[in-house]
Amino acid sequence: MKIIKTANKIAFELQNKKKIGFIPTMGCLHKGHVSLIKKSKKKKLLTVVSIFVNPLQFNNKKDFIKYPKTISTDLKICKKNKVDFVYLPQKKEIYPEKKIIIKNKIHFFKKYMEGKFRPGHFEGVIEVVKRLLKHIKTNYLFLGKKDYQQLIIIKEYLRSINSKIIVVPCDTIRAKNGIALSSRNKLLDQKSLNTAGKIINFLKNNKNKIIKSKDNSLFLKKIKEFGVKKIDYLTAFDLKKLKKTNKSTVNTRVFIAYYLNGVRLIDNF
Ligand code: PAF
Repeated sequence: MKIIKTANKIAFELQNKKKIGFIPTMGCLHKGHVSLIKKSKKKKLLTVVSIFVNPLQFNNKKDFIKYPKTISTDLKICKKNKVDFVYLPQKKEIYPEKKIIIKNKIHFFKKYMEGKFRPGHFEGVIEVVKRLLKHIKTNYLFLGKKDYQQLIIIKEYLRSINSKIIVVPCDTIRAKNGIALSSRNKLLDQKSLNTAGKIINFLKNNKNKIIKSKDNSLFLKKIKEFGVKKIDYLTAFDLKKLKKTNKSTVNTRVFIAYYLNGVRLIDNF
């Protein structure tokens, strides 16, 4: 496994390589990331993982500062899973300019959920993805369904620029108690992890009722009784029509964002 820190070097290493699988991450790797790596390896792709905590996608500075960083463990995980290249850029490799001006405007699917509650978040995500993809000319891009809205927005961005990159959506990996694996779980104590488990099981057991309800205040109340102070949204979406829905179809997913002990968690099922 090679660890590469500069844009020029990673571009050089990957030049003329035909079958590249790229897994962009912000580090603090867990079994969810590992499942993406494994998918890439299974396809016999030259597997590249980037680790870069992108300041541009944090609408809250405190959230950026406390984002967990576990670089030496991350590298061990990559090595164990036979990653070929880890791209570990400093901020200046990604954003060499003094003043970063985000030119891309996202109109697609961003007025809901994460787009609504985290202004500028998706613009920051697309900016970093755009720049990473300049450094890593990949054929396949592996993205997790846990960040479903991100997955759809990145796919649409690639379509809009006529990119040939194939996006591989990967299922959410869950802990035994049902919670989606996430780097942010590292910030939770055991009590909060147990509470998150109760919440996700409550949501799963009531999925159809949540979808069909015109007013979800009773569900919000119940979630708050588990100890949640703030819920940004609990909403059912038709992923084909990209609209809120009260119909349970194969395209319907329920999305939630809530705070537990000051940590913002998202999930969908
Ligand atoms: O999903 C993430 O970890 C990040 O949003 C991504 C895609 C690596 C961009 O920083």
